Amino acid sequence: MTIKALVFDAYGTLYDVQSVATVTDEAFPGYGEIISQIWRMKQLEYTWLRSLMGRYEDFEVITRESLVYTLAVLGLKHSTSIFDRIMDKYVHLDLYPDAKDALAALKGYKLAILSNGSSGMLNALVHNTGLDKILDATISIDSKKVFKPSPETYTLIEEKLGVKSNEVLFVSSNPFDACGAKAFGLNVAWIERVTADAMALECKKADMVRPLTMFRAMRMQMDQFGLDPDYRVKGLSGLPAVLAAR
Ligand code: LAC
Repeated sequence: MTIKALVFDAYGTLYDVQSVATVTDEAFPGYGEIISQIWRMKQLEYTWLRSLMGRYEDFEVITRESLVYTLAVLGLKHSTSIFDRIMDKYVHLDLYPDAKDALAALKGYKLAILSNGSSGMLNALVHNTGLDKILDATISIDSKKVFKPSPETYTLIEEKLGVKSNEVLFVSSNPFDACGAKAFGLNVAWIERVTADAMALECKKADMVRPLTMFRAMRMQMDQFGLDPDYRVKGLSGLPAVLAAR
């Protein structure tokens, strides 16, 4: 089946969630990395837990709650303005360096985001980083009141873009999302930013496992559900080759 649309995950795939570390380290010198990693791990965990409990709150609330958790756990006292400054980075995240060129190289396909982000956060982020001029749609899971990887969320692609599942290439670097999309029946390209060999080497070499290494081990390696992606690419710039080879 010909691919008509490429649908991207946002956080971690087009946008570098690690880029919050500049702001977190400025606010709490020496704590930047551990804040960033606990925050992101908890943020994702809260999406799954709230989905399972049937207690949906949007991703902005979840991002705030997980930051509150993180700062409390680390015993970091803070003013509202520091908290707000850190939160503000979520609408100004850095794009991965290859993101804009990769999207430009995919002209001719429908291009969209499907993200757990709330509509407000996503629209601000996409606007602030200029992707609103490139993307055909920015789709939030908000209306479904459940987070990825629930199958309900992936139905939004056909609903909003009018493109059938087998005509979509879904692109994510988040293993949970790549597996969810595959389970749903989409064609999936997993952006494998840290290969299994590089991961093993990073753990072997480390005298002490850094929070970032732990994050990579927990959230950036393919999961064991027997839901392997159709394609593994090292970066977004590898996508045209995947399409050409189909
Ligand atoms: C997204 C997060 C979960 O959906 O990466 O954009």
